[in-house]
This record gives sequence, structure tokens and C-alpha cells, in this order.
Amino acid sequence: MLACAASGGAAHASAPDVLTEFDADERAAIARHGPWPPPARPDPTNRASGRASAAALGRRLFFEPRLSGDGRVSCASCHDPARAFTDGVPRARGLDTLDRNTPTLIDVAGQRWYGWDGGSDSLWAASVRPILAPAEMGGSAEGVARLIAADHGLRTAYRRAFGPPGDDARVLADAGKALAAHLETLRSPRTPFDRFRDALAAGDGAAAARYPPAARRGLKLFIGEGRCAVCHAGPRFSNGEFHDVGIPFMPAPGRVDPGRHSGIRRVLSDPYNLLGRFNDEASVAATGVGDDVAKRDGIVDAASGGAVGVARAVATRTVTLQPRNWGEWKTPGLRGLARTAPYMHDGSRPTLRDVIRHYSELDLDRLHADGEALLRPLRLTPAQVDDLLAFLATLDPPVATLDAPAVPRGARR
Ligand code: HEC
Ligand code: HEC
Repeated sequence: MLACAASGGAAHASAPDVLTEFDADERAAIARHGPWPPPARPDPTNRASGRASAAALGRRLFFEPRLSGDGRVSCASCHDPARAFTDGVPRARGLDTLDRNTPTLIDVAGQRWYGWDGGSDSLWAASVRPILAPAEMGGSAEGVARLIAADHGLRTAYRRAFGPPGDDARVLADAGKALAAHLETLRSPRTPFDRFRDALAAGDGAAAARYPPAARRGLKLFIGEGRCAVCHAGPRFSNGEFHDVGIPFMPAPGRVDPGRHSGIRRVLSDPYNLLGRFNDEASVAATGVGDDVAKRDGIVDAASGGAVGVARAVATRTVTLQPRNWGEWKTPGLRGLARTAPYMHDGSRPTLRDVIRHYSELDLDRLHADGEALLRPLRLTPAQVDDLLAFLATLDPPVATLDAPAVPRGARR
């Protein structure tokens, strides 16, 4: 794909110009979208984080339909590895049809909030949530604990990762932590954009000139006039915050999906949140052994009033519901978009061109809160739309580097 843009001498002759195409501010803005990949940081709230034995269990559980109430829905039913961990339909279908689109799980780790509405405050809580959700997998802590106790392979893998099982709720939390340890390993490869970003930072004009001219124009728009980078910031191209960009949030006549507003309620009432007894942060920090220490120190049931002096939980403890949260959604990352259509929280935009058209023709009457301040209709020319699309395409890894992970042996699909 890039070979044509790099066609020999012509690219070389214009090499120095590419560096001067971007001024110092623009170069700094571009540098902030890297480096890639980011350093892997273990999650202190999950004692299984970064551990191979737990990731191996998590990988099996990911393809395990017996986690669900009717024994037929697995994580992979919606997060299909062959489709970049999405399902290709506007709204997810589990035991029932949901109001929301299935997001990819590639590069999922390291966020502060999970879900379109931030309804979970850790990757492991976000992995427990679909198991219990009646419309998704409709399972239960009891069912998951029973399955792990009864299945020889799962039981062995569980013991290897966690030791002897605790009560049912704790086994379910551990299943979520194993799933999270697996999901942490899903990182996207480097892209043409990453190579350009590094070339620009290193002042390597010849390497920078290999980046297609249309993508360079699109990138300029993205960080400049288009203001996309205000929200799609950093190496993942997401600021991790919640905004209203004017997508209607009525999934059906008379029914409203309030987005962040419901996410805050969900996270605060979730027994698996970071304020609850399953957060490993305090115990790991104290001694590295987990559970027993938590019990000894009396931080077992923090959700009901105990005090856990843990850093990660602060965000959850201090989050407050505001009217502006109504209809806000988490800014999605923009890497690997080619394989994750349709787009937006409700899957209402079939193609990236539709998404760009949305920003170009924005209906200001639909915006509220910070959307009003941050967005305005861009009224892009057709050539500018093409440039933005050319830029977004460079956030996709070359196809050859994309090996869909195979279904693990012994797992059922
Ligand atoms: C019925 C389809 C479906 C199934 C089954 C399903 N998911 Fe999801 N997943 C979704 C949807 C839809 C969302 C967005 C949820 C929201 O906004 O509330 C999501 C969100 C997530 C997220 C948060 C992603 C992010 O970037 O914020 C994680 C993590 C996740 N799922 C993991 C899992 C795991 C692990 C399983 C199996 C235990 C699973 N999912 C089963 C559809 C599904
Ligand atoms: C005010 C913050 C903000 C700005 C500015 C912004 N976005 Fe977004 N973007 C979001 C949010 C929030 C969503 C999800 C909205 C929803 O689902 O309702 C989104 C969704 C998207 C998606 C869909 C991704 C997916 O996986 O579904 C793309 C592509 C995108 N934006 C590109 C852009 C481009 C290009 C620009 C600049 C023209 C831009 N955005 C400007 C916040 C922003």
C-alpha cells in the first residue's frame, strides 16, 4: 500500500520539504500520538495482571459458551477475533439485542473507564459485567463457580493461576481477572502513522516522505482546523473522556440510552467496582499475596463503608453525576478502524465516510454540554474528506501483520 507513495527518486527529491510541511507546534502535537506501542503496565487492582497462567485461563474462558445462562453465548460470539473482536452488526446480539455497538478489544487495556458509558472502572469488572448481564450472557457467579469446579481443565488452570477457590462471587471476580489478563495481551501492531511520527521526531526526511501526501494533509486537518485531536488524543487516539458529538441517543421511539449518565450509576452500584472487596490493589501493595491480607486488614467490604486507601479507587469514589452527562459517550480510540464497522455507540454510521460527513455537517441543535464548545460543523470539501480518510487509513496496521488469534485447543466456540 505504501510502496507506491515511496516510489524511489521522486520521494527522495522532496524529502526535506516533508519536514517543513509541519511547524514546531504541529510536530509536537503529532509526537503526542506516540510512541507506539506504549509500555505495558500491570494493573495493580488485578493480581493476575501480566501473569501468563492467568492469561491462559482467560483465553480459554473467552471462548467458553458455558459461562452463559443458556450455554450458547461466549465473549467471542460478539467479540469475534476474526473481525478485530467486533461482530460487524450495528447493535450487539446476545441473549437479546442490545442498544449498543460491540467495541473492539484490541488495545483495550489501560483505560480509566470501560464501556461506551464508562459503566466499569477496571478491565476485569468490564469482563465480569457481560457474563451477568441478562441481555448479553445471562450467567451467574454460582454458575461460573460450578463450571470451574466441574471441568477438569478449567479447574486445573484456575488453581494454577489463583490457588484454591474462594466463595462464588470471588471465583467470578477471578474469572474476570483472568479474562482481563488475556485481553491485556491484545495490542495492535505499529502502523504507517507510527513510522511517520517517529521519522518526524527524529528529523528523518527520507523516512517521513514515505508517508502518503493525502495522509499528511489529513493529519494536518486532524490536529488543526478539524480539532479532532482535542478528544481523539494520545497514542490510542482517545482522551478517555465522555462527550456528546450529536449522535441521537434514542435507540427506539420512547426509549432513551442516557450514556454516561447511566454509566456513573452503573459503576457506583457495581459490587465488582474498585471500592469493593475484590480490588487487589491494597493487598498487592502491602505484601503481594492478595486476599488473606485484605481480610486480616479488615478491608473486606469497603463498598459498605470500610476504608480502602487505594489510589485507583479514587476516581470511582469521587465521580459525581451531572446533568451534562446525559447523552455523553466515551471517546473511542481510532486505531484499526478498517475492520470495526459500523461505527459510533449505536452502530448508526456504516462507513468512515459517514462518520466524517457527520462531523462535517453537524447539527448544532443536537449538541449540548461541552460538545457545543468543542465542535462546529466543519463544512469540509470532498477533497478534505478524502484526506481525512487517507489519514485514518494509516492508523490501520498493514494487513500482513494481522494474524487473528486461533481458537485455543480444547475450547468450544
Ligand atoms: C452480546 C454481545 C457481547 C458479549 C457476549 C460480550 N460483549 Fe463485551 N461488549 C459488548 C458491547 C455492546 C460492549 C459495550 C458495552 C457498553 O457500552 O455498555 C462491550 C464492551 C466490552 C468491554 C469494554 C471495552 C471498552 O473499550 O470500553 C470489554 C472489556 C468487554 N466488552 C469484554 C467482554 C468479555 C470479556 C466478554 C465475555 C465474558 C464479553 N465482553 C462479552 C458486547 C458483548
Ligand atoms: C468533542 C470531542 C470529539 C471531537 C472534537 C471529535 N470526536 Fe470523534 N468521537 C468522539 C466521541 C465521544 C465519539 C463516540 C460518539 C458516539 O458513539 O455517540 C466519537 C466517534 C468517532 C469515530 C467512530 C469510532 C468508532 O469506533 O465508532 C470516528 C471515526 C471519529 N470519532 C473521528 C473523528 C474525527 C475525524 C474528528 C475530527 C473531524 C473527530 N472525531 C472529532 C469525540 C470527539
